[in-house]
Parts: sequence; structure tokens; C-alpha cells
Amino acid sequence: MAPSYNRDTKASELVSHYAPLIRGKTIFITGVSPGSLGHGFVKQVAAAKPAIFILASRSIPKMQSVIDELHTAHPDIKVKPLALNLLSFAEVRKAAETVNSWADVPNIDVLVTNAGIMAVPYHQTEDGIESQFQTNHLSHFLLANLVMDKILASKSPRIVAVSSDVHRVGHIRWTDPSFNNGKDYQRWLAYGQSKTANSLMAVALAEKIVASVLDNKSNVGVAREVDSQLDLGNGRDVHGVTREAADIACAIVAVLGHAGLSLVERGHDGGRVIGAVGN
Ligand SMILES: NC(=O)c1ccc[n+]([C@@H]2O[C@H](COP(=O)([O-])OP(=O)(O)OC[C@H]3O[C@@H](n4cnc5c(N)ncnc54)[C@H](OP(=O)(O)O)[C@@H]3O)[C@@H](O)[C@H]2O)c1
Repeated sequence: MAPSYNRDTKASELVSHYAPLIRGKTIFITGVSPGSLGHGFVKQVAAAKPAIFILASRSIPKMQSVIDELHTAHPDIKVKPLALNLLSFAEVRKAAETVNSWADVPNIDVLVTNAGIMAVPYHQTEDGIESQFQTNHLSHFLLANLVMDKILASKSPRIVAVSSDVHRVGHIRWTDPSFNNGKDYQRWLAYGQSKTANSLMAVALAEKIVASVLDNKSNVGVAREVDSQLDLGNGRDVHGVTREAADIACAIVAVLGHAGLSLVERGHDGGRVIGAVGN
């Protein structure tokens, strides 16, 4: 059972509480540019000594300071930098091939699909898709599926799809996800669509993997750990809450604190679990 927490809860408190669950794990996270939520997550979680961090960024030079910081503070954690451009399915396939080729990473315990863009002007990717939908959701969906063998090789696999409470403003436009090739584009609706998709991916992965890949009966403990969805809420230094506190705290709780599929939301009063499947 996770401890109760609120807007004043510090990520460091949760990391220290969950340290036994973090120690020795292989954690793969996308989007760790300096100053981002991903960077904050890595910095905090590192204190509990995971064995390996796979850090994915579209620019390895851009995240070099994050890598250097990690090497200096925690020389015993292995860091595997990965070039990943979510705007291109071909680039995602290349990155997944690289991960799958790493003999020193036999399994991935936690995949955090965190990288994202928000409410950007209309752009169509080389794959012909609206850029927020591809970056935030479709490419992460592809990535997760391409490295799934390594995820399922973990004793307690977990996928965290980082969503946002902005999912409330945009449902999935099933017949027109690219907004009539931009003619009907509304950037916040497009962001909301991508964040709704993040949540639905988490739900679907939990259902499909539990039902069809893992043995529901004998592996129920593992199955319950497979998936989690994270809603970071209205995060950046608003309402007096900084990245060092509730945002990252929510992330850690979602990754490690609750068995089963957890729907975690950060509201103005702090993080709370709004729904759960399993124990
Ligand atoms: N901050 C908030 O208030 C808030 C609230 C709710 C949810 N969220 C969610 O939290 C996640 C992280 O947000 P953040 O605030 O940390 O954003 P951020 O500071 O802008 O960082 C986003 C990260 O995603 C990476 N990224 C963007 N496009 C990419 C691409 N095509 N390929 C690979 N990486 C790419 C960025 O790399 P570059 O530096 O190279 O662009 C950066 O590392 C997002 O999913 C966002 O939707 C944030």
C-alpha cells in the first residue's frame, strides 16, 4: 500500500519509500532533456540505484549534461543513451532495433513513455500524421510493441504512459485524427487527443497483455504489474507546486507504488489515485 501523499510530498520521500522496488531495475524513459520532467524523474529515481537507465532523446548531445550529472552522482548506474526521433516511424524502428540488439540489456523492467510536444502549430510528419498524435502516442505505441519481448522478459514489467489532465478536452477523432490535413486543426484538441490516446494505450496494454500474453491464473501478480497510466496534471510550477514535488512524486507512485493499472491524477491539491484495476 502506498503512503498517502499530497502537494507537499517530495519525490525524494517516495523514492526512499520505494527504494527496494527500484534497486537493480532497468528503466527505459523517453524525453530527458535538461529541465524536463523526464530529467527530474531520472535524477530522483537514481538515488535508489536502478541498475540501468536507457535514456532516449532525439539529440544525444542535448542530453549529455543529464548523462554527465548521472555519471558523477551515481557512477555505479549504467547509462545507455539512445537516439530516438518520435516524429518518424522509421527512426523509432531503428531505435528499437538498437535496444533489441543490446546483449547487456536482456530485459526492461519499466518503460516510461514520457517525451511529448504540447499544442504546437500544425505539422504533418513524414508519415502523413499530425505531429502531436504521432510524437505523443503513435510512436510510443510502436516503440513499446517493438521492445515488448524485452519488457515481458522482466519479472515485473511495467509500462507508464505519461498523459495529462488535458485529455479531458480532446477525444480520439477516429475517422479524422489529422484534422482534415490541418484544415480543421485546433492545437489543444490535438494535444488532448494524443493524451487520451496515451491513457487508452495503457488500458489496452493492460487488458491485452494480461489476457493474451501472460497466463492470467498463474501469473496474476505479474499481470497486475504490467501497466500503469500516469496523469501528471497541470504541472509546471503552478499552484506553488514544483517539478521536484508532486509531479515527480506522481510519476514514482505510478511506476512503483500501486499494483495493477493505476489511474493517477494530480489535481490542485496534489496527487491521488482515481481508479485502479487489481489490488
Ligand atoms: N509540464 C507539464 O505541466 C505537463 C503536464 C501534464 C503532462 N505533461 C506531459 O509530461 C511529459 C513531459 O513533459 P515536459 O513538461 O517534461 O516537456 P518538455 O520539458 O518539453 O520535455 C519534453 C521532452 O520530450 C522530447 N521530445 C519532444 N519531441 C520529441 C521527438 N520527436 N522525439 C523524441 N523526443 C522528443 C523533448 O526533447 P527535445 O528537448 O529535443 O525537444 C524533451 O526531452 C509530456 O508527455 C507531457 O505531455 C506535462
